Amino acid sequence: MQTELFTFQTLEAAAQCIRSGELVAFPTETVYGLGANAFDEQAVKKVYQVKGRPSDNPLIVHVSDEAMLRSFIASWPPLASLLIEAFWPGPLTLIFPVKKNCFPSQVTGGLATVGVRMPQNNCALTLIQKANVPLVGPSANTSGKPSPTTAAHVYHDLHGKIAGIIDDGSTAIGIESTVLDLTGALPCVLRPGAVTIEQLEAVIGQVTVDAHLLHEQQAPKAPGMKYKHYAPNAQVLIVENTQASWQRALQWAQKQSEAVGFFISQDLRPFLPKDCLFFSFGENTVEQATKYLFAGLRALDEQATLILVPAFSEKGLGVAYMNRLKKAANQTFLEY
Ligand code: TXA
Ligand code: MG
Repeated sequence: MQTELFTFQTLEAAAQCIRSGELVAFPTETVYGLGANAFDEQAVKKVYQVKGRPSDNPLIVHVSDEAMLRSFIASWPPLASLLIEAFWPGPLTLIFPVKKNCFPSQVTGGLATVGVRMPQNNCALTLIQKANVPLVGPSANTSGKPSPTTAAHVYHDLHGKIAGIIDDGSTAIGIESTVLDLTGALPCVLRPGAVTIEQLEAVIGQVTVDAHLLHEQQAPKAPGMKYKHYAPNAQVLIVENTQASWQRALQWAQKQSEAVGFFISQDLRPFLPKDCLFFSFGENTVEQATKYLFAGLRALDEQATLILVPAFSEKGLGVAYMNRLKKAANQTFLEY
């Protein structure tokens, strides 16, 4: 199959593909999603096939307005209005009770709930409006690989397997949405993302965090969180983000027989030797590191077999950044 490249100007053709049961990858503010008509069982089955995704891992449904959401949920959790008002469109997925037999069972993984979000991206919202159906949208990568943050990443993983990719440049945030379950007694964060716990609590009061995020040995409530995610082929090692610690890391790297890649901020660039493999994420902030984490891992993975990545403190966006980084590194910190 020929994979066509679309842009904002050619969204009508992309929407036509969706309506005829094809898969089209689309940009969002978080990562690129693999779009298909959420009501079309054959199309949803194809999504699992091309990603190589485990079938017990439910999909997020993307909507362009609240009326679309209300058409398929079974009841309205009291906090939903405040959350939607504050954070949609944006990087927050809400878990709602879903109407029976509304979606093919593959969308919900057989659960009585569905994850829904309204992405903050013009291409995505226009595509959904033009297709006039909600779209499933798992990250458009091969299952287990870092999520794609450019159209080129999607092309690398899925070309020849999907009808098209809508190119809208690099995604703004760089990691997947926060997932918040609204179906229990207290709202519960199942996956940390760019909407932080502090931001949620400012709007709706107390929020809990799924036990697996606090204790590794607990099974996660979001089925997808149990898989080894975001991992390149290379071994990722986490480095404390101080100049002294990077200097020691550099000495350590020079003694390795394997190729070492550095994911570093711009200000550390002058300390690296000329022939060093590196990917710079710009300013030394957790926002920048988050935006380029997956792009950096993918790029360095082409040549390095060891990749060094800085830790950031687990506050605000740092919670989500460290969640993804620890998965990619299989919890491994560099020991000198
Ligand atoms: O930012 C994002 O959310 C991106 C973009 C493309 O929108 N999408 C994304 O989808 O990350 P995916 O499929 O890679 O991750 C969906 C996560 C998984 O961890 C899944 O288990 C969880 O959401 N999830 C989906 N529906 C659920 C449900 N009904 N109950 C609990 N967890 C659910
Ligand atoms: Mg994913």
